[in-house]
Amino acid sequence: MTTTTPGPSALRGAVGTARTRIEGREKVTGAARYAGEIPFADLAHGWLVLSTVTRGRIVEVETAPVLAMPGVLAVLHHGNAPRLKTDYVGMLGTPPDPTCAVFQNDRVPFAGWPVALVVAETPEEAREAAEALVVTYDSEPHDTALHPDHPGAYPAAGHMPAETEKGDLEAQLAASAFVVDAEYTTPEEQHSMMEPHAATARWEGGRLEVVDSNQGAGWVQGELATMFSLDASSVRVRSEHIGGGFGSKGLRAHQVSAVMAATALQRPVRVVLTRRQTFSLGGYRSPTTQRVRLGAAPDGRLLALEHRSLNQTSTVYEFVEASAGVARVLYDADAHRTANHVVRLDVPSPTWMRAPGEAPGSFAIEAALDELAERGGIDPIELRLRNEPEVGPVSGLPFAGNNLAACFREGARRFGWADRDPRPGIRREGRWLLGTGTAAASFGAGAAPSTALVTAEADGSFTVRITAADIGTGARTALTLIAADALETAPEQVRVRIGDSDFGPAMIAGGSMGTRSWAWAVTAAAAELRERLAMTTLIPPEGITVRSDTTEALGALARKERHSFGAQFAEVAVDTATGEIRVRRMLGVFAAGRIVNPLTARNQLVGGMTWGISMALHEEAVRDRNTGGHYAPDLAGYHVATHADTPAIEVDWVEDHDPDDPVGIKGVGEIGIVGAAAAVANAVWHATGVRHRDLPIRPDRVL
Ligand code: MOS
Repeated sequence: MTTTTPGPSALRGAVGTARTRIEGREKVTGAARYAGEIPFADLAHGWLVLSTVTRGRIVEVETAPVLAMPGVLAVLHHGNAPRLKTDYVGMLGTPPDPTCAVFQNDRVPFAGWPVALVVAETPEEAREAAEALVVTYDSEPHDTALHPDHPGAYPAAGHMPAETEKGDLEAQLAASAFVVDAEYTTPEEQHSMMEPHAATARWEGGRLEVVDSNQGAGWVQGELATMFSLDASSVRVRSEHIGGGFGSKGLRAHQVSAVMAATALQRPVRVVLTRRQTFSLGGYRSPTTQRVRLGAAPDGRLLALEHRSLNQTSTVYEFVEASAGVARVLYDADAHRTANHVVRLDVPSPTWMRAPGEAPGSFAIEAALDELAERGGIDPIELRLRNEPEVGPVSGLPFAGNNLAACFREGARRFGWADRDPRPGIRREGRWLLGTGTAAASFGAGAAPSTALVTAEADGSFTVRITAADIGTGARTALTLIAADALETAPEQVRVRIGDSDFGPAMIAGGSMGTRSWAWAVTAAAAELRERLAMTTLIPPEGITVRSDTTEALGALARKERHSFGAQFAEVAVDTATGEIRVRRMLGVFAAGRIVNPLTARNQLVGGMTWGISMALHEEAVRDRNTGGHYAPDLAGYHVATHADTPAIEVDWVEDHDPDDPVGIKGVGEIGIVGAAAAVANAVWHATGVRHRDLPIRPDRVL
C-alpha cells in the first residue's frame, strides 16, 4: 500500500506520505459496484423521454399505446406526476435548480427537457417504449445563440458580487503607456465524467432510500426531502463509488424521477442517463464571451484592468459562470472593474463545472496579460511578479499566504524559462513551429461546516463515518491518513466509511473544499475521542463514539483572502501544414496548502492540467441554432484529450500551509485547470505569432 520508505507510519505521520487508493484494488478488479450496477430485488427501470422541440408546450402524451407494450408498468408525465416543492433555499444557500423539478407543468423550456419517464420491467423494454412514446407539442420560436451584445444580458451575482469597480478606468487607460483591448470566447463544455448519472429509489420500512452516484449524499438527501415534503430523517441517500462528477453530480432529473416512480409503483426503480442524455440533463459549462482591457505604466505596473464576462443560462434557472472573479484575486490596478453578466436563452441550465468561472476567466485574463507583456516588451513572468497584489485587490483583505511568486520562480527554473527567446514564430523543426507559454492560476480555499463520527472500537481499531464523497479523487484515502494522524495511530488501524447521508451533514465534494472541510471535522472528533480514551480503561463492545460539528470553529475563521496559487507552463508544436497542435510538455507548480497524499494530489493536478489541454484544443459542444439541440452529443463528437493528446505532465508544489487550518490544507481539486488553457494558447502564439482568442484552437482556426 505504502509507496514511500517503509517503517511504522504512525511514528512519522501519515499525512504527506504517498498512498495508493484504499479502494483501488476493488475498482480495478470490478469488485467496486457503481450506482447503476448494484442489484435490487424486484427492480423496475425508468427511461427518460426528452423533448424534441426547443421551446413550447406539451399538448399530449399518448400513453395508451405505450402502456400496452411488453413489460411497461407506468408512464409518468406532467399530467400525473406528484407536485414538488420548489420554493426553498438549497443546501448551498443558493436557490434550488428547478431544472430538476420534472413533470410539473406543460412548458418545454429547452431541447432535451424531460417530458416523461417510461417505467418497465427491464431497461430494454423501458427504452423501446420510451422511444415509441408519442408526445405532441405546440412549438414556439426560440433563441439559443449567445453573442456579446445580446439585448437580454444583465448583471448577475451567483456566488459572488456581479460587479466591482474602483478608480477611473477610462482615464487610466488613456494614461497608460501600452494597452490591450481584446475579446475572448470559450465554448459550451461538458463534464464528460466516465460514469453517467444513475440512481435507484425504493421505499424500505417507511424510509425512502436512494442509491446514487453523487458529490454529496447529504446534499441530495436534503434536496429530495424538501422537494417531496418528507421529513429529512425519512430519506437516506447512499453513494459509495463515483466515476467522476466535476460539478455535474448534484440533484438532477434522474433521482427525482426515480423517486416519483418508486413512490407510484411501490417498487425499487432505477433511472440511468445515457451519455447523450447527460448532454441535456447533466448541466454543462456555459459558453462565455469576455472582454478584457488592460493598461500599464512603462514599467508594466497595471494602471487599468477591466474584465467583463457574459454567459448564457436557461429560462428556468440563473447560473452565473463567474469568469471575471479571478481578476479580483490575481491583479490589482489603479482602476479596476469586473463584471459577470448572464443572458437567459432557450438552452439547458448550465451548472458548476471544475473551476467554474476560474477556468474560462483565467483563459481570458491570462491570455490578455501575455498580450500586454508582448506590447510592453516585458517578460510575461516578470509582468506578473510586478503586479502581485499586497492585499486582495477588491476585498482589501490580507492573504492567508500568497505563494504565486514562489511557484513562478520554481517553475521558471525547472522549465528552463530563462533561455526563452521572446520573439514569436521563429523556432522551426521541420514543418513544426515551436513555442512556450505560461500563465498564473488561483483558486479559492474555503471550508464549510461538517460533522463526523469517530469510534474507538473494542479491538483497538477506529471507524470514521462522514458523509463525504470520493468522486475518484482519493478522498477516502486522504481522510484515512488525516484520521490516523489525528488519532496517533497507523492508517491500517483506521476504517473510513463515507457516502451515506445517515452519517450526518457534511460538505459536498465540491469547490475544492471537500477534503479540507471533512478533515477539519474528523480532526476535531478525533481530538475529543483521544481525551475520552485517556480517561477510559475499558472500551465497551459497541465502542466509544464522538461526534464533531465544525460550524462554530469555522465561524471563527479570520476573514482573509484564502487561495491556492500556481504557475502553468506549456510547450507546443504547431504543424504549419495541417494546423494540428501538439502539447509537447507541461509543468505546473502549485502552492496549494499542505499536501495530504502526494500521489492522489498529483493525480488531481495532472487531471486538471490535462483538462486545460483539452479545453485549449479539443472541447466544444456545438448547438444547432435551428433545432436547439447538440450536434453529436457523445464522446465521438465531443472530443476530450486522450493519452495520445497528453504529454508527460510534470507537477510539483512549493511549501505552503494554511495557517488557520488544523491540518494546513487548502485544496487541489480545481486549481490544476486554472490557467492551463491560457498557457497552451500563449505557447501557440509564441510558436506562430498569431493570437487565438477563441477556444478551442482547432486546426481550421490555426490555418
Ligand atoms: Mo466542483 S465544479 O465544485 O464539483
